[in-house]
Amino acid sequence: MVRFEAVGLRYPGGGPHTGSWGPEALVDVTFALPPGSFTWLLGPSGAGKSSVLRLMHLALRPTRGEVEVLGLRSSRAPRAALAPVRRRIGVVFQDFRLLPYLSAFDNVALPLRLAGRPEASLRADVNEILKWVGLDGKAASLPPELSGGEQQRVAIARAVVHRPALLVADEPTGNLDNRQARRLLALLREMNRMGATVVVATHDEDLVARFPAPALVLRDGRLHDPDGARGIGADLTVDRFAPHPDAAEADDLAPEPPPPTAPPRRDPDLGDRRSPDLG
Ligand SMILES: Nc1ncnc2c1ncn2[C@@H]1O[C@H](COP(=O)(O)OP(=O)(O)OP(=O)(O)O)[C@@H](O)[C@H]1O
Ligand SMILES: [Mg+2]
Repeated sequence: MVRFEAVGLRYPGGGPHTGSWGPEALVDVTFALPPGSFTWLLGPSGAGKSSVLRLMHLALRPTRGEVEVLGLRSSRAPRAALAPVRRRIGVVFQDFRLLPYLSAFDNVALPLRLAGRPEASLRADVNEILKWVGLDGKAASLPPELSGGEQQRVAIARAVVHRPALLVADEPTGNLDNRQARRLLALLREMNRMGATVVVATHDEDLVARFPAPALVLRDGRLHDPDGARGIGADLTVDRFAPHPDAAEADDLAPEPPPPTAPPRRDPDLGDRRSPDLG
């Protein structure tokens, strides 16, 4: 599903077009995530979490090593091969990346509209997911009229509305209060139960404690296994959430999932446009 093999990643250094490269932001990163797994991505600020996620959602290619996502080896793949794979990946960006001139409803509807879904059928799905993230009253609001946490919930709704096979979320609860964070985690977990492979980068230790799952721990761009128990060296064959005493409580916060959506027919292409390589 997702495989990193001796991955190194450098960003351009000294500004654009200088031809120079910075130090490796990721160094010898190797791991594999099975289909249907849920994985935390942990580590201090600057450790490389967003960089790992950018490689995972094909916004960047590695500068060395191999990244394989949904059967595609990104280092060798022609650009044209990337779009259909990106279409199957939902991304919650750390900085949201909502379109400021579109309403919350239209931001969430975008992946479905780009996939050619008829208006009549997408309306129910968008309303359902907005309800799930607690924003049914804000469907008509523009992102600048929403709080940080509300914008984050729109971003999460947009990432999941088309039922991606792989869902990567970068600090998806960074702007939410504890209750909303648990509710959103319940949503991501539900997506995982329905078959999506889910990777969540977070600093929120309370959330991780509530929803135990295998973790990738990064330090200074390298995978780190502090106690041999929870790091990537541990049990990545565990591909489901372990039961947790608080899980039921969190589940109670989540309404029923929306009805399944039809498979997208065209590329929503919500990929990270910052990458000069793949953008
Ligand atoms: N676009 C970029 N250009 C140059 N260097 C970058 C770029 N993005 C990230 N880096 C560098 O790569 C390293 C890892 O950054 P990354 O954003 O992946 O960390 P992170 O773990 O997501 O941090 P945070 O928790 O603060 O979001 C840092 O040293 C950062 O300065
Ligand atoms: Mg980050």
